[in-house]
Amino acid sequence: MTAPSKDRDWAAYYSKTVDRPPRETLMFALDRFDAEPADAARFAVDLGAGAGRDAIEMLRRGWRVLAIDAAPADIEALRARPDLPPGADLSGMVAGFEDADWPDCDLVNSSFALPLCAPADFVRVWRRIELSLRPGGRFAGQLYGDRDSWTGRDGMTFHTRADVEALLEGFEIEHLEEEEDDSVTPRGEAKHWHVFHIVARKA
Ligand SMILES: C[S@@+](CC[C@H](N)C(=O)[O-])C[C@H]1O[C@@H](n2cnc3c(N)ncnc32)[C@H](O)[C@@H]1O
Repeated sequence: MTAPSKDRDWAAYYSKTVDRPPRETLMFALDRFDAEPADAARFAVDLGAGAGRDAIEMLRRGWRVLAIDAAPADIEALRARPDLPPGADLSGMVAGFEDADWPDCDLVNSSFALPLCAPADFVRVWRRIELSLRPGGRFAGQLYGDRDSWTGRDGMTFHTRADVEALLEGFEIEHLEEEEDDSVTPRGEAKHWHVFHIVARKA
């Protein structure tokens, strides 16, 4: 099995996932926002947006979206999607989350991407996420647990449950599901998944 990384060719991954529905963590967060009044279109940053399964859903629901991904092909593919809603307010940035900067936002969505941040950079990236969220803003996404079969791979970060709870100290935890499962990745690789699915609201 080859470790995932920002430099990896993600084409096989996209071909398997491009038509998949948005992630449940994103849908949970969007539904929470829908229950709250808003004066103007909300703004989301999608970190590690990939082929845009989440970005498309946000745009469809009238959000402004900045999609950030280290792979230029992703951002190009997202911009070229035939299902982009007319008038979609989408911008793209080719950057690693270690180096990226982005404006203040209502939502940072990062589905199955933040674990691809190196441990030496993770705390700084997480702090950037926290600081960029407006009060009442949300984080939605996944972190990998310490029993995941990829634990220890170069360039990836894994967390214990206590680590996750510490990261979320400044947040109201709205959804925290810890999943452990043996299955296969979209690339067909057998894997033990240990995943934290998170939606949290900044206090
Ligand atoms: C597993 S895919 C997830 C894509 C999408 N969010 C989804 O849920 O299907 C991980 C994505 O993160 C991007 N990525 C990996 N490492 C990155 C990094 N350090 N900075 C920015 N993007 C990165 C990859 O290019 C890829 O698009």
